[in-house]
Amino acid sequence: METNTQLKVAVIGCGALGTAIAVGALDSSSETGLGVKQLVATVATEPSKRRVEDALSNHASRVTVLTREENVRAAKDADVVLLSFKPIKRAEVFAVPGFKEALRGKLILSIMAGITTKEVNRLIYGEEPASDSGSPLQAVRAMPNMAASIKQAVTLYTPNPGTTKENLEIASWVFSQVGEAYQIPENSFDICAVLVGCAGSLLLLAIDGLLDAAVAEGVRRPEVQNLVVNSAIGMMNLVPAGDHPSVLREKIASPGGCSIRALLELEKLGVRSAFTSAIMAAAERSKTMSSSR
Ligand SMILES: NC(=O)c1ccc[n+]([C@@H]2O[C@H](COP(=O)([O-])OP(=O)(O)OC[C@H]3O[C@@H](n4cnc5c(N)ncnc54)[C@H](OP(=O)(O)O)[C@@H]3O)[C@@H](O)[C@H]2O)c1
Repeated sequence: METNTQLKVAVIGCGALGTAIAVGALDSSSETGLGVKQLVATVATEPSKRRVEDALSNHASRVTVLTREENVRAAKDADVVLLSFKPIKRAEVFAVPGFKEALRGKLILSIMAGITTKEVNRLIYGEEPASDSGSPLQAVRAMPNMAASIKQAVTLYTPNPGTTKENLEIASWVFSQVGEAYQIPENSFDICAVLVGCAGSLLLLAIDGLLDAAVAEGVRRPEVQNLVVNSAIGMMNLVPAGDHPSVLREKIASPGGCSIRALLELEKLGVRSAFTSAIMAAAERSKTMSSSR
């Protein structure tokens, strides 16, 4: 890839997350000097093409939206290619003649859950370790979450060994446009990635359970939904402000009070270890995804 601060980006599989990242990168007025000169997004179907055109309409002069038949064209013309289709689709996408060749020499950003940089290497170069005229594949594996759509994601990323500092800066810039981005080592990626990618769904399940209690007591969900969510957000914000979660929990639970009763009930039901088991199951699944083709 040429050194280029105004990037040509392809988003292959521009669904919920691909669209959020595309909007973030296009909206950016970054002081780093990086920006998007043109962005080509691809999707599988015509209705999605219209959805993406709508979502990116503020940047129409820099955006082209195509369907899957044009994946090769989209990738060929880009400096940076974001792979944001579902992992299960990867065999189909890579089987198209010319696709893997179109990715060679580009910076590849993959957000496919559970797919290692080694697997991205295999997809592009086959079973032999990759190299572009002697240099390693320039690829970054990342795990954002759905809060990217409101630019409040936490994205973890890890590079393929040999990815240049300049390309890492580009990857960090792309993911920073939708929230915070942190580089972590690939050997701790699975557990950390499920903590940012899946844990939110567990907490939402907890919110749903809390709202059931309101309904059981005769209060309609919409009347309390935002109260519950906003109070939870406020409490959570105390943690980065310096309070350890267990110290905070202890502070809230006064002797003889309501909170301690509720907490004891949850402990009796094994909720704490249920959360641990759920995340460990997700991490185990993440570890096996690259090998399940
Ligand atoms: N959702 C999450 O919370 C989350 C978190 C972290 C990572 N991830 C990863 O992020 C990726 C995207 O997830 P998502 O939730 O954004 O999925 P999504 O909304 O289903 O988006 C996938 C997109 O891929 C398109 N697509 C399917 N086959 C294609 C093909 N052959 N060529 C081009 N595009 C194709 C689909 O098009 P159509 O719309 O036309 O079907 C869809 O727009 C996945 O790999 C997932 O593992 C997701």
